[in-house]
Amino acid sequence: MKILLLGSGAREHAIIKALIRTGSEAGSIICAPGNDLIALEVEIKAGIDPNNTFEVASLALEEAVDLVVIGPEAPLVLGVADALRSQGIAVFGPDQAAAALEGSKNFAKEIMAQADIPTGMANKCSTLEEVAAALDDFGAPYVVKADGLAAGKGVIVTQDRELALEHAAKFIHDGILVEEFLDGQEVSLFFLSDGKTVMPLSPAQDYKRAFDNDEGPNTGGMGAYSPVPWLPEGFVEEITKRVAEPTIIEMAKRGTPFVGLLYCGLILTERGTKVIEFNARFGDPETQVVLRRLQTNLADLLMRAATGKLDVGPVAEFSDYCAVTVVLASEGYPNSVAEVREVTGIAQAEAIDDVEVCKAGPIGRVLSVVGYAQGFQEARTLAYEGMARIHLAGGHFRNDIGLKVSH
Ligand code: AMP
Ligand code: GLY
Repeated sequence: MKILLLGSGAREHAIIKALIRTGSEAGSIICAPGNDLIALEVEIKAGIDPNNTFEVASLALEEAVDLVVIGPEAPLVLGVADALRSQGIAVFGPDQAAAALEGSKNFAKEIMAQADIPTGMANKCSTLEEVAAALDDFGAPYVVKADGLAAGKGVIVTQDRELALEHAAKFIHDGILVEEFLDGQEVSLFFLSDGKTVMPLSPAQDYKRAFDNDEGPNTGGMGAYSPVPWLPEGFVEEITKRVAEPTIIEMAKRGTPFVGLLYCGLILTERGTKVIEFNARFGDPETQVVLRRLQTNLADLLMRAATGKLDVGPVAEFSDYCAVTVVLASEGYPNSVAEVREVTGIAQAEAIDDVEVCKAGPIGRVLSVVGYAQGFQEARTLAYEGMARIHLAGGHFRNDIGLKVSH
């Protein structure tokens, strides 16, 4: 089976490693545009813009690929999957209308209301006066969200009303959601979906804040671990029934079936588990730990999801080993953008058994180091031993990833 994977980040690198680990031939995978480390494992097409429908469709046809897997959200929201499907190409990734589950937080709330899915109360605002009124309605801490895609920068959670209003002003042209504050542990749970059937993967916890002890601004994710040993018994089954299935049914009912990865961002509050967000693609860095533990043929799972056959064949199985990943970010991330600086020591890190490095971009989140072992303590030690061998001037990473589950 020949696969074209779109994207160039650590998530895509992790998907490639998992494809190969679970039985795909490296020679049957193309990544576009990919990056320098991905190029060491599979063929890349560095000149391709994954958001350019024409370039992607031409490449898929030229290379006669059997399946296109879309890594990032931007091409999904732009309708790249629609264009490929209209050419008869199998695609793992939702059409534009279904990707709105991630592309518009208001749309996601509408679906959740319709399908009776537990989530926080929220007010849709289109003027700053409405925002101010909603802030006072809900009270502090204030949660303000931009409606559209904002690369992890659209949400602010703050005690400071002025800051909340300032944030709203930045995104008001696009629409704002003011949400009730939800308190609890967060969990990411991914589902493969073929439009009618869902299949859960294994849960992970992501660390959203930039610095140790959950301090600093929100980021795209600074680390993750999987599995999540403290979850209540039956958690995955409950979320399947209460969240993933009703969402997929509601999308199908509307004539916009969701085919691809449904990412459920969840929070365990005292009043039950609630959805914080949906994404329409694999999470980064959770994918690095979830897929590290996958034991089922990933290419087969993605193909079955893309072709409406998820209910035929094996379900996703995971090892009982633990995976911990730590993200290295460049100086200033997530607030200011530093210059591109050289990263060294990656090969030395990967020389350690059961340490993997997934490469992201030249700035921002630069790479993630994954440790894999029988217990969390060992997996965490491996990830940090790997990180200690890597050097990036001004680079920073969190020191507390997986700490609370490793004793
Ligand atoms: P989102 O992009 O909606 O996932 O928001 C990013 C992060 O902001 C989440 O992972 C949470 O850490 C935080 N957050 C979002 N919504 C809320 C909420 N209603 N209450 C508390 N924290 C939230
Ligand atoms: N790690 C959060 C995300 O992928 O959106």
